[in-house]
Amino acid sequence: MAIRIIGTGSYLPQKVADNQFLSTIVDTDDEWIRQRTGIKERHLSSGKEGTTYMATHAAEAALENAGITAEELDMIIVATVSADTYVPSTSCSVQGAIGAIRATCFDLNAACSGFMFSLNTAYAYIEMGMAKTVLVIGSETLSREVDWSDRGSCILFGDGAGAAVIQQDDGEGGLIASVTGSDGSQGDVLTCKGRGIQNPFHNSRRRKDYIRMDGQAVFRFAVTMVPRCIKQILKKTETDVEDIKFFVLHQANVRIIELIAKRLRVDLDRFPMNLNRYGNTSSASIPILLDELNRNGLLERGDKLILSGFGGGLTWGAMLIIW
Ligand code: ACO
Repeated sequence: MAIRIIGTGSYLPQKVADNQFLSTIVDTDDEWIRQRTGIKERHLSSGKEGTTYMATHAAEAALENAGITAEELDMIIVATVSADTYVPSTSCSVQGAIGAIRATCFDLNAACSGFMFSLNTAYAYIEMGMAKTVLVIGSETLSREVDWSDRGSCILFGDGAGAAVIQQDDGEGGLIASVTGSDGSQGDVLTCKGRGIQNPFHNSRRRKDYIRMDGQAVFRFAVTMVPRCIKQILKKTETDVEDIKFFVLHQANVRIIELIAKRLRVDLDRFPMNLNRYGNTSSASIPILLDELNRNGLLERGDKLILSGFGGGLTWGAMLIIW
Protein backbone atom coordinates (compact mmCIF):
# COMPACT_ATOMS: atom_id res chain seq x y z
CA MET A 1 0.00 0.00 0.00
CA ALA A 2 1.21 3.52 -0.78
CA ILE A 3 -0.01 6.83 0.64
CA ARG A 4 0.62 9.23 -2.18
CA ILE A 5 0.22 12.86 -3.23
CA ILE A 6 -2.12 12.58 -6.23
CA GLY A 7 -2.69 16.28 -6.97
CA THR A 8 -1.46 19.76 -6.08
CA GLY A 9 -2.73 23.32 -6.36
CA SER A 10 -1.87 26.84 -5.26
CA TYR A 11 -3.16 30.40 -5.18
CA LEU A 12 -1.22 33.65 -4.97
CA PRO A 13 -2.90 37.04 -4.48
CA GLN A 14 -3.08 39.33 -7.51
CA LYS A 15 -1.17 42.28 -6.04
CA VAL A 16 2.65 42.13 -6.10
CA ALA A 17 4.87 44.33 -3.92
CA ASP A 18 8.49 44.46 -5.11
CA ASN A 19 11.41 45.64 -2.96
CA GLN A 20 11.32 49.05 -4.58
CA PHE A 21 7.70 49.45 -3.46
CA LEU A 22 8.62 48.47 0.12
CA SER A 23 11.34 51.12 0.15
CA THR A 24 8.53 53.69 -0.08
CA ILE A 25 7.05 52.31 3.17
CA VAL A 26 10.14 51.62 5.35
CA ASP A 27 13.81 52.66 5.26
CA THR A 28 15.19 49.85 3.08
CA ASP A 29 16.36 49.18 -0.45
CA ASP A 30 16.26 46.47 -3.08
CA GLU A 31 19.97 45.62 -2.79
CA TRP A 32 19.85 45.09 1.01
CA ILE A 33 16.79 42.85 0.78
CA ARG A 34 18.10 40.79 -2.14
CA GLN A 35 21.56 40.30 -0.64
CA ARG A 36 20.34 39.33 2.84
CA THR A 37 17.29 37.28 1.85
CA GLY A 38 17.13 36.59 -1.91
CA ILE A 39 13.61 38.04 -2.00
CA LYS A 40 12.69 40.35 -4.90
CA GLU A 41 8.93 40.56 -4.53
CA ARG A 42 6.01 39.07 -2.65
CA HIS A 43 2.24 38.79 -3.23
CA LEU A 44 -0.01 40.62 -0.76
CA SER A 45 -3.71 39.97 -0.21
CA SER A 46 -6.29 42.61 -0.91
CA GLY A 47 -10.06 42.72 -1.00
CA LYS A 48 -11.49 39.29 -0.39
CA GLU A 49 -8.20 37.37 -0.67
CA GLY A 50 -8.04 36.19 2.96
CA THR A 51 -6.75 32.86 4.26
CA THR A 52 -10.00 30.98 3.54
CA TYR A 53 -10.39 32.42 0.03
CA MET A 54 -6.84 31.48 -0.96
CA ALA A 55 -7.12 28.04 0.68
CA THR A 56 -10.36 27.39 -1.22
CA HIS A 57 -8.81 28.31 -4.57
CA ALA A 58 -5.71 26.20 -3.90
CA ALA A 59 -8.00 23.32 -2.86
CA GLU A 60 -10.07 23.51 -6.04
CA ALA A 61 -6.91 23.51 -8.15
CA ALA A 62 -5.53 20.49 -6.26
CA LEU A 63 -8.80 18.54 -6.63
CA GLU A 64 -8.85 19.26 -10.37
CA ASN A 65 -5.21 18.22 -10.67
CA ALA A 66 -5.96 14.99 -8.76
CA GLY A 67 -9.04 14.31 -10.89
CA ILE A 68 -11.35 13.78 -7.91
CA THR A 69 -14.43 15.55 -6.56
CA ALA A 70 -14.82 17.30 -3.20
CA GLU A 71 -17.38 14.64 -2.15
CA GLU A 72 -14.59 12.04 -2.21
CA LEU A 73 -12.65 13.76 0.59
CA ASP A 74 -12.68 12.11 4.02
CA MET A 75 -10.74 14.87 5.71
CA ILE A 76 -9.45 18.44 5.25
CA ILE A 77 -6.52 19.72 7.30
CA VAL A 78 -5.48 23.38 6.97
CA ALA A 79 -2.12 24.47 8.33
CA THR A 80 -2.21 28.16 9.19
CA VAL A 81 -1.08 30.76 11.72
CA SER A 82 -3.18 33.51 10.14
CA ALA A 83 -6.78 32.33 9.99
CA ASP A 84 -9.52 34.83 9.12
CA THR A 85 -11.58 33.61 12.10
CA TYR A 86 -10.90 31.73 15.34
CA VAL A 87 -14.19 29.92 14.76
CA PRO A 88 -15.12 28.41 12.38
CA SER A 89 -11.77 26.88 11.48
CA THR A 90 -10.40 27.62 8.02
CA SER A 91 -10.78 23.94 7.11
CA CYS A 92 -14.52 24.00 7.93
CA SER A 93 -14.94 27.18 5.86
CA VAL A 94 -13.13 25.54 2.95
CA GLN A 95 -15.34 22.46 3.35
CA GLY A 96 -18.44 24.64 3.09
CA ALA A 97 -17.10 26.47 0.06
CA ILE A 98 -16.13 23.39 -1.95
CA GLY A 99 -18.95 21.10 -0.79
CA ALA A 100 -16.81 18.37 0.77
CA ILE A 101 -19.84 17.07 2.66
CA ARG A 102 -18.22 13.82 3.90
CA ALA A 103 -15.04 15.39 5.27
CA THR A 104 -13.92 15.83 8.88
CA CYS A 105 -12.11 19.16 9.15
CA PHE A 106 -9.62 20.80 11.49
CA ASP A 107 -6.78 23.31 11.44
CA LEU A 108 -3.24 22.75 12.63
CA ASN A 109 -0.69 25.30 13.84
CA ALA A 110 2.98 24.39 13.60
CA ALA A 111 4.07 27.72 12.04
CA CYS A 112 6.32 27.21 9.00
CA SER A 113 6.41 23.44 9.65
CA GLY A 114 2.60 23.33 9.48
CA PHE A 115 2.21 21.78 6.04
CA MET A 116 4.70 19.03 6.84
CA PHE A 117 3.07 18.27 10.19
CA SER A 118 -0.33 18.21 8.45
CA LEU A 119 0.96 15.78 5.81
CA ASN A 120 2.18 13.59 8.66
CA THR A 121 -1.22 13.77 10.32
CA ALA A 122 -2.96 12.83 7.06
CA TYR A 123 -0.53 9.95 6.69
CA ALA A 124 -1.29 8.70 10.21
CA TYR A 125 -5.08 8.86 9.70
CA ILE A 126 -4.80 6.95 6.42
CA GLU A 127 -2.35 4.43 7.85
CA MET A 128 -4.79 3.78 10.75
CA GLY A 129 -7.62 3.18 8.27
CA MET A 130 -9.53 6.23 9.55
CA ALA A 131 -9.44 8.05 6.19
CA LYS A 132 -8.62 7.25 2.58
CA THR A 133 -8.48 10.62 0.84
CA VAL A 134 -7.26 13.77 2.62
CA LEU A 135 -6.87 17.34 1.42
CA VAL A 136 -3.95 19.12 3.10
CA ILE A 137 -3.64 22.89 2.69
CA GLY A 138 -1.19 25.55 3.87
CA SER A 139 -2.68 29.04 3.67
CA GLU A 140 -1.36 32.28 5.13
CA THR A 141 -2.25 35.96 5.12
CA LEU A 142 0.93 36.94 6.96
CA SER A 143 0.59 40.54 5.77
CA ARG A 144 -2.09 40.99 8.46
CA GLU A 145 0.41 39.88 11.15
CA VAL A 146 3.39 41.89 9.97
CA ASP A 147 4.40 45.17 11.59
CA TRP A 148 4.64 47.37 8.50
CA SER A 149 6.86 49.83 10.39
CA ASP A 150 9.50 47.15 11.22
CA ARG A 151 11.95 46.96 8.32
CA GLY A 152 13.68 43.95 9.92
CA SER A 153 10.64 41.70 9.42
CA CYS A 154 8.09 43.22 7.00
CA ILE A 155 10.37 42.62 4.02
CA LEU A 156 10.43 38.87 4.63
CA PHE A 157 6.84 37.72 4.38
CA GLY A 158 4.20 37.19 1.72
CA ASP A 159 0.67 35.77 1.34
CA GLY A 160 -0.45 32.64 -0.49
CA ALA A 161 -1.80 29.12 -0.30
CA GLY A 162 -0.84 25.66 -1.52
CA ALA A 163 -2.66 22.34 -1.33
CA ALA A 164 -2.14 18.63 -1.91
CA VAL A 165 -4.53 15.69 -2.14
CA ILE A 166 -3.26 12.58 -0.35
CA GLN A 167 -4.73 9.18 -1.15
CA GLN A 168 -4.08 5.54 -0.45
CA ASP A 169 -3.51 3.21 -3.40
CA ASP A 170 -2.15 -0.27 -4.09
CA GLY A 171 1.14 0.90 -5.60
CA GLU A 172 4.55 1.53 -4.10
CA GLY A 173 6.29 4.66 -2.86
CA GLY A 174 4.43 7.72 -1.62
CA LEU A 175 5.04 9.21 1.81
CA ILE A 176 7.74 6.95 3.23
CA ALA A 177 8.80 8.30 6.64
CA SER A 178 9.44 11.47 8.56
CA VAL A 179 11.23 12.92 11.56
CA THR A 180 9.75 15.85 13.45
CA GLY A 181 10.60 17.86 16.55
CA SER A 182 9.76 20.91 18.62
CA ASP A 183 11.48 23.05 21.24
CA GLY A 184 9.05 25.23 23.16
CA SER A 185 11.83 26.54 25.40
CA GLN A 186 12.95 28.65 22.42
CA GLY A 187 9.47 29.90 21.58
CA ASP A 188 10.38 33.55 22.17
CA VAL A 189 12.69 33.55 19.16
CA LEU A 190 9.68 34.03 16.87
CA THR A 191 6.29 35.14 18.18
CA CYS A 192 2.97 36.64 17.22
CA LYS A 193 0.93 37.10 20.38
CA GLY A 194 -2.86 36.93 20.54
CA ARG A 195 -5.21 39.21 22.45
CA GLY A 196 -4.63 39.61 26.21
CA ILE A 197 -7.07 38.19 28.78
CA GLN A 198 -10.26 40.22 29.06
CA ASN A 199 -12.91 38.95 31.47
CA PRO A 200 -14.64 40.07 34.70
CA PHE A 201 -11.41 39.36 36.67
CA HIS A 202 -8.82 40.77 34.35
CA ASN A 203 -8.62 43.53 31.78
CA SER A 204 -5.46 43.25 29.74
CA ARG A 205 -4.71 46.26 27.60
CA ARG A 206 -2.76 44.16 25.16
CA ARG A 207 -4.19 44.11 21.68
CA LYS A 208 -3.19 41.45 19.18
CA ASP A 209 0.57 41.74 18.55
CA TYR A 210 2.61 41.55 15.35
CA ILE A 211 5.29 39.07 14.27
CA ARG A 212 8.43 39.62 16.40
CA MET A 213 11.61 37.78 15.61
CA ASP A 214 15.23 37.40 16.61
CA GLY A 215 16.39 37.01 13.01
CA GLN A 216 19.88 35.76 13.76
CA ALA A 217 18.64 33.17 16.28
CA VAL A 218 16.13 31.89 13.71
CA PHE A 219 18.92 31.75 11.14
CA ARG A 220 21.21 29.73 13.47
CA PHE A 221 18.37 27.37 14.39
CA ALA A 222 17.48 26.69 10.74
CA VAL A 223 20.99 26.02 9.47
CA THR A 224 21.69 23.68 12.40
CA MET A 225 18.45 21.76 12.74
CA VAL A 226 17.47 21.29 9.09
CA PRO A 227 20.68 19.51 7.96
CA ARG A 228 20.47 17.44 11.15
CA CYS A 229 16.91 16.23 10.57
CA ILE A 230 17.54 15.62 6.86
CA LYS A 231 20.51 13.42 7.79
CA GLN A 232 18.28 11.64 10.32
CA ILE A 233 15.60 10.85 7.73
CA LEU A 234 18.20 9.64 5.21
CA LYS A 235 19.69 7.35 7.84
CA LYS A 236 16.31 6.11 9.06
CA THR A 237 15.26 5.17 5.51
CA GLU A 238 18.74 3.99 4.46
CA THR A 239 18.64 6.44 1.56
CA ASP A 240 21.75 7.86 -0.11
CA VAL A 241 21.73 11.66 -0.32
CA GLU A 242 22.72 11.33 -4.00
CA ASP A 243 19.42 9.52 -4.71
CA ILE A 244 17.37 12.57 -3.72
CA LYS A 245 16.22 14.51 -6.79
CA PHE A 246 14.95 17.62 -5.00
CA PHE A 247 15.12 19.03 -1.49
CA VAL A 248 11.84 20.95 -1.17
CA LEU A 249 12.50 23.23 1.76
CA HIS A 250 10.45 25.87 3.50
CA GLN A 251 11.21 29.08 1.60
CA ALA A 252 12.47 31.49 4.26
CA ASN A 253 15.73 32.90 2.98
CA VAL A 254 18.18 32.05 0.19
CA ARG A 255 21.15 32.26 2.58
CA ILE A 256 19.58 29.67 4.88
CA ILE A 257 19.04 27.29 1.94
CA GLU A 258 22.57 27.88 0.58
CA LEU A 259 24.12 27.03 3.94
CA ILE A 260 21.95 23.93 4.36
CA ALA A 261 23.01 22.73 0.87
CA LYS A 262 26.64 23.34 1.77
CA ARG A 263 26.35 21.45 5.06
CA LEU A 264 24.77 18.49 3.26
CA ARG A 265 27.39 18.72 0.48
CA VAL A 266 24.63 18.84 -2.15
CA ASP A 267 24.57 21.11 -5.23
CA LEU A 268 22.28 24.09 -4.80
CA ASP A 269 20.47 23.26 -8.06
CA ARG A 270 18.79 20.34 -6.25
CA PHE A 271 17.16 22.89 -3.92
CA PRO A 272 14.36 24.43 -6.01
CA MET A 273 13.44 27.94 -4.88
CA ASN A 274 10.69 30.46 -5.53
CA LEU A 275 11.20 32.70 -2.50
CA ASN A 276 12.52 35.44 -4.80
CA ARG A 277 8.94 35.81 -6.14
CA TYR A 278 6.84 35.04 -3.07
CA GLY A 279 8.92 35.76 0.06
CA ASN A 280 8.26 33.63 3.12
CA THR A 281 4.67 32.32 3.06
CA SER A 282 5.09 30.12 6.19
CA SER A 283 3.01 26.94 5.98
CA ALA A 284 2.10 27.69 2.34
CA SER A 285 5.66 27.77 1.01
CA ILE A 286 6.26 24.01 0.62
CA PRO A 287 2.94 23.19 -1.12
CA ILE A 288 3.24 26.22 -3.43
CA LEU A 289 6.73 25.06 -4.46
CA LEU A 290 5.57 21.46 -4.82
CA ASP A 291 2.72 22.62 -7.05
CA GLU A 292 5.12 24.58 -9.26
CA LEU A 293 7.42 21.58 -9.63
CA ASN A 294 4.44 19.34 -10.39
CA ARG A 295 2.84 21.67 -12.95
CA ASN A 296 6.16 22.34 -14.65
CA GLY A 297 6.53 18.59 -15.26
CA LEU A 298 9.64 18.32 -13.09
CA LEU A 299 8.34 15.43 -10.95
CA GLU A 300 8.22 11.90 -12.32
CA ARG A 301 6.94 8.67 -10.78
CA GLY A 302 9.72 7.20 -8.62
CA ASP A 303 11.52 10.49 -7.93
CA LYS A 304 12.76 10.74 -4.36
CA LEU A 305 12.10 14.05 -2.64
CA ILE A 306 12.91 15.39 0.80
CA LEU A 307 10.46 17.93 2.21
CA SER A 308 11.65 19.96 5.18
CA GLY A 309 9.82 22.60 7.20
CA PHE A 310 11.20 24.70 10.05
CA GLY A 311 9.92 27.67 11.98
CA GLY A 312 8.23 29.16 15.01
CA GLY A 313 7.53 27.09 18.06
CA LEU A 314 10.28 26.17 17.43
CA THR A 315 9.27 23.31 15.14
CA TRP A 316 11.04 21.34 12.44
CA GLY A 317 10.81 18.17 10.41
CA ALA A 318 11.86 16.31 7.28
CA MET A 319 9.98 13.77 5.20
CA LEU A 320 11.01 11.36 2.45
CA ILE A 321 8.55 11.02 -0.44
CA ILE A 322 8.72 8.80 -3.50
CA TRP A 323 6.60 10.62 -6.09
N1 ACO B 1 16.79 47.27 5.09
C1 ACO B 1 17.94 47.88 5.40
N2 ACO B 1 18.59 47.69 6.55
C2 ACO B 1 18.04 46.82 7.43
C3 ACO B 1 16.83 46.17 7.17
C4 ACO B 1 16.19 46.41 5.94
N3 ACO B 1 15.04 45.81 5.58
N4 ACO B 1 16.55 45.35 8.23
C5 ACO B 1 17.53 45.50 9.11
N5 ACO B 1 18.43 46.40 8.65
C6 ACO B 1 19.66 46.87 9.27
C7 ACO B 1 19.63 46.71 10.78
O1 ACO B 1 18.99 47.80 11.39
C8 ACO B 1 21.10 46.66 11.09
O2 ACO B 1 21.62 47.99 11.07
P1 ACO B 1 22.77 48.42 12.09
O3 ACO B 1 23.95 47.58 11.77
O4 ACO B 1 22.96 49.87 11.77
O5 ACO B 1 22.22 48.15 13.46
C9 ACO B 1 21.70 45.93 9.88
O6 ACO B 1 20.75 46.05 8.83
C10 ACO B 1 21.98 44.46 10.15
O7 ACO B 1 20.82 43.90 10.76
P2 ACO B 1 20.74 42.40 11.18
O8 ACO B 1 19.40 42.12 11.78
O9 ACO B 1 21.96 42.06 11.98
O10 ACO B 1 20.85 41.71 9.75
P3 ACO B 1 21.05 40.19 9.40
O11 ACO B 1 22.27 40.04 8.58
O12 ACO B 1 20.91 39.30 10.59
O13 ACO B 1 19.82 39.92 8.43
C11 ACO B 1 17.68 38.84 8.49
C12 ACO B 1 18.50 40.02 8.96
C13 ACO B 1 17.56 38.90 6.98
C14 ACO B 1 16.31 38.89 9.13
C15 ACO B 1 18.43 37.53 8.90
O14 ACO B 1 18.75 37.54 10.27
C16 ACO B 1 17.64 36.32 8.58
O15 ACO B 1 17.43 35.97 7.44
N6 ACO B 1 17.17 35.57 9.58
C17 ACO B 1 16.30 34.48 9.40
C18 ACO B 1 14.95 34.96 9.75
C19 ACO B 1 13.85 34.33 8.97
O16 ACO B 1 14.01 33.78 7.91
N7 ACO B 1 12.67 34.47 9.52
C20 ACO B 1 11.50 34.02 8.88
C21 ACO B 1 10.52 33.57 9.84
S1 ACO B 1 11.00 32.09 10.57
C22 ACO B 1 11.05 30.94 9.44
O17 ACO B 1 10.41 31.00 8.45
C23 ACO B 1 11.94 29.85 9.70
